[in-house]
Amino acid sequence: MLKGTFPIDKLKALPTPFYYYDVKLLQDTLDMVKTEAGKYNYHVHYAVKANANPRILSIIAENGLGADCVSGGEVQAALDAGFPSGKIVFAGVGKADWEINLGLDNDIFCFNVESAVELDILNELAAAKNKVAAVALRINPEVDAHTHAKITTGMKENKFGINLSQLGEVLDNLSKLKNVKLIGIHCHIGSQITDMSSFRNLVIRVNEIQEELEARGITIENLNFGGGLGIDYYHPNHLPIPAFDNYFAVFNKLLKVRPGQEVHFEPGRSVVAQCGTLISQVLYVKIGETKKFAILDAGFTELIRPAMYDAYHRIENISSDEEVELYDVVGPICESSDVFGKDVELNKAHRGDLIALRSAGAYGEVMASQYNCRRLPKAYYSDMI
Ligand code: LLP
Repeated sequence: MLKGTFPIDKLKALPTPFYYYDVKLLQDTLDMVKTEAGKYNYHVHYAVKANANPRILSIIAENGLGADCVSGGEVQAALDAGFPSGKIVFAGVGKADWEINLGLDNDIFCFNVESAVELDILNELAAAKNKVAAVALRINPEVDAHTHAKITTGMKENKFGINLSQLGEVLDNLSKLKNVKLIGIHCHIGSQITDMSSFRNLVIRVNEIQEELEARGITIENLNFGGGLGIDYYHPNHLPIPAFDNYFAVFNKLLKVRPGQEVHFEPGRSVVAQCGTLISQVLYVKIGETKKFAILDAGFTELIRPAMYDAYHRIENISSDEEVELYDVVGPICESSDVFGKDVELNKAHRGDLIALRSAGAYGEVMASQYNCRRLPKAYYSDMI
């Protein structure tokens, strides 16, 4: 069984559970993003929601990416990490007044507006500050992302974006508002998308939308395609960097870009997932009547994806090379859903062994909770231990 390479002696000295970040892999991934997006002059805003760890954010900011935020807290985290306000986009179906004001005060690049009513409020708040807010309309493009229902966003029944049938009405209203300026359109159809045909369909839909807008005399400066590129949770050791080349090539091939128009993206998972690992320790091996359980000191409080989305994370016993056995790998939380994997092939496990839950850099640490009065996990970095 090919396992990841970890500085096991150094990790053993640290109190578990914790997140371990491979800073070199993050940098290599960022280099790839910059090279591939750079080929077409595409603008990339990292989706802060995937991982808002301050060190991770500052590395991404140093690499010149922008930030995609979905709350005032994320806008502040991005500013604190050094992202220039002119590269911050702010989406979200429910922005509170203080969050909008924070964006206005910092003159962020763009508000991705998700409804007619939000547009009115933004206009009002901008007027109170004598400002004009730059706006992209988040359109719900009705394109199926073929991914998990809980992370699908671009269908009619989802709460996100403005329905295509209501776009005309919203545009009419927008043209009457003095303190908002339309600078773009935005779409995000879902997450962990591995089937490129979903992105192809999105581009085809956006080409159509552009034509409709032009027929109304509207030209759009910025097209934003959101995030969504999936990663290989099954083979983190073989393919640690996602295929950004294929992804951006789809857009380059099919998108009808108008002269002077900018194209933007908001990848989250694909940038940070593979560089992060949740490291935990086996507390007990419990032999049940029909099952053998490896009970870890990490649970869904540290990594909720398996419990919440039935997500698969590769699990490795990095302390043992003994024969492989089958275990249900579970956490200590008092809930039956606190299971990381069933019938997992692990090298024979003993109390104290370190267990790596791979591909946990995205939606891992950032979704941790204190349920059961547990402590939030710490983070360590490959270049600082
Ligand atoms: N832009 C917008 C407007 C989004 O809603 C999202 C993710 C992204 C960009 C970044 O998408 P990514 O490149 O990471 O797929 N917690 C879930 C994923 C939720 C994604 C929410 N929106 C999970 O653990 O799978």
